[in-house]
Order: sequence, then C-alpha cells, then structure tokens
Amino acid sequence: GMISAFCTKYIMVGQDRTVFASYYLQYAEKLKKFEVYDDDVWVASFPKAGTTWTQEMVWMIANNLDFQGAKQSLRERFPFLEISTILKRESVLHEASNLPIPQYHTNSVEYTKNLQRPRFIKSHLPFSLLPEQLQSGTRSPKMIYVVRNPKDTCISYYHHGTLLMGWTISLENFVKVFMADKSTYGSYWKHVLGYWNKRHLPNLLIIKYEDMKSNLPSVIKTVAQFLNKEITEEQIQLLCKHLSFESMKSNPAVNFEELAKKLRKSNMVAKDGTFIRTGIVGKYKEELSPETINKFNEWIKANIRETELENEYIF
Ligand code: A3P
Repeated sequence: GMISAFCTKYIMVGQDRTVFASYYLQYAEKLKKFEVYDDDVWVASFPKAGTTWTQEMVWMIANNLDFQGAKQSLRERFPFLEISTILKRESVLHEASNLPIPQYHTNSVEYTKNLQRPRFIKSHLPFSLLPEQLQSGTRSPKMIYVVRNPKDTCISYYHHGTLLMGWTISLENFVKVFMADKSTYGSYWKHVLGYWNKRHLPNLLIIKYEDMKSNLPSVIKTVAQFLNKEITEEQIQLLCKHLSFESMKSNPAVNFEELAKKLRKSNMVAKDGTFIRTGIVGKYKEELSPETINKFNEWIKANIRETELENEYIF
C-alpha cells in the first residue's frame, strides 16, 4: 500500500497498471474525452523530473518573455490537468491551513478545459492515459516531455511527499515503493518509455533535466525552435537569469512556499523544507546508502536497455 495522509485507497489503471488515488475514477472518462486543441502547449513528465522548471521556461518562451504576466501563479497560468485525481482531500487541507481552496484544484479538469487559448497544460499522465485525441494524433498540440535520472527523481519525489503530502515513510522504504512501481503514477520506466517510443512524433519534444542543468541556453534554443519562436541571445540571457535556481526559489509565483509554510503551521505535514529544494544532479549520493545505490543501479541496468537513454543515468 502507499503512504499518503490524504488518500487511503489506491488503484491501478490501464495496460501499465498505473497507480492512482481512487479519486482518479471520477475523472477517468473526462480525461479520456478531454478536448484538445492544436494551439495548446503541453508539458508532461514523471513527477519530480523538473516539471515546474520546464513549465516556466516553456511559458516564458511561448509568451515572448512576459515578465509581468509571469507574476501570476504558475498553477493558474499552467495548471496541472489531473491534480484533482490526487488531492481530493485538499479541501480538508486548505481548511486546516486557512488557505482558500484554489479553483484549479476543486476540478482541475474543468478549470483547464475552460482556460483562455492558447492553453498551457501540465500533466503527469502516462502516454497511454492521455486524452484520446492526443494519443490518436487527431489533434497535435506541441508537447514537451522532461525526463530526469531516476535516482534524483525518486529522492525528489520522497521530499515532495513529506513536504506537501504528509508522508511519514522513511526514504529507504520509499525507494522500495518507487522501484516496485507503486508510487503514484506507477512505473518510472513505463512512463518514460511510453513517451520515448513516441519521440518521432513531430509534435513531441523530449528534453532532459540534466541538459537544462549543464546547458540551459542550448535547451532554450531547442524549445524556442520547437515552438516556432524567435529568441535573441540577449533574451536567452534574461531568461536564464529568470530560470536560475536562486531566482526560482525566491519567486512566489512558482515556488509553492506559501502552501508549504501554512501546512507546517497547521501540523498537516511534519517536514521542513522547500519545494525548489536543491536542484542538484547526483544529490542522491549524499542521501542513499551505498547498498541502496547498488540496488538502484541494477534496477536501472535491467530497464534502461529499451530506452537507448545510454548509461548516463547509472552514475
Ligand atoms: P530537487 O528536489 O532534487 O531539488 P517538479 O517540478 O517536477 O516537481 O521537480 C522538482 C525538482 O526540480 C526539484 O528537485 C527542484 O529543486 C528542481 N528545480 C526546480 N526549479 C529548478 C531550477 N530553477 N533549477 C534547478 N532545479 C530546479
């Protein structure tokens, strides 16, 4: 079983046996039938792959570096399509913390549907559970999938759970849950492969967190080209500043700090910390025992072959 204070019942869905809170069932049909537009822009990922960072980059590029507009909460301008399937009880959480329940959480699918176009949409759904129009290619909006090495993804996921979801599980035990494909959104590999196998679609771009860390200007150029946007060297420099770890960490439109603080105050979560946490590649080395890292590497070796992601994720 999984481990959240906010949901006690989990289900497995579809060919990949993807794990969801049972609230998913209320939205399954709406997600399948969700109307997609060609001028949407989608960011998809396995949780904790660097989604927020990617969203802010994509939104800024698509909106010609609209720094003023970017002051609006990212969660409103670039909502998480299916967040209502995870946090049904967030109303309880918001009551306890005196935070207003954001409209985009009470029914995120409806909220997203009604966004002004062009819509910007975040999703962690595996490819096989995306809206039918996206899967069939009937509609082909631009979609950017971000992937991150599984060890850092896993650790980041763990900290997210303790920071925002009230988890009390130990890190070593969470690693076991993660490798058994039992955390929400299920199998890391099936998720990555689901998109990787579609990488030849002209409307899908796959980027890596590690490349954003090592050469953000180059990723920005790639994304701009993909979105058919002109961007000057000077603008790239400005955008890199805006997207730097320090700048994102102190930017209330993207950092979830208010929520985390209120949750701590109301004792809904035990853990101290920040959502924009360390942003370091290979940080897992400081957090996992050598034994767990070995197990992790074996697991990666056994699974990565199919992806041609090379061995860079076994470091
Ligand atoms: P860590 O927990 O390893 O620090 P997501 O947005 O998918 O939930 O991913 C969150 C991860 O992205 C966190 O990783 C967070 O610190 C990292 N991140 C967010 N903004 C970043 C930035 N500007 N630079 C580097 N990493 C960033």
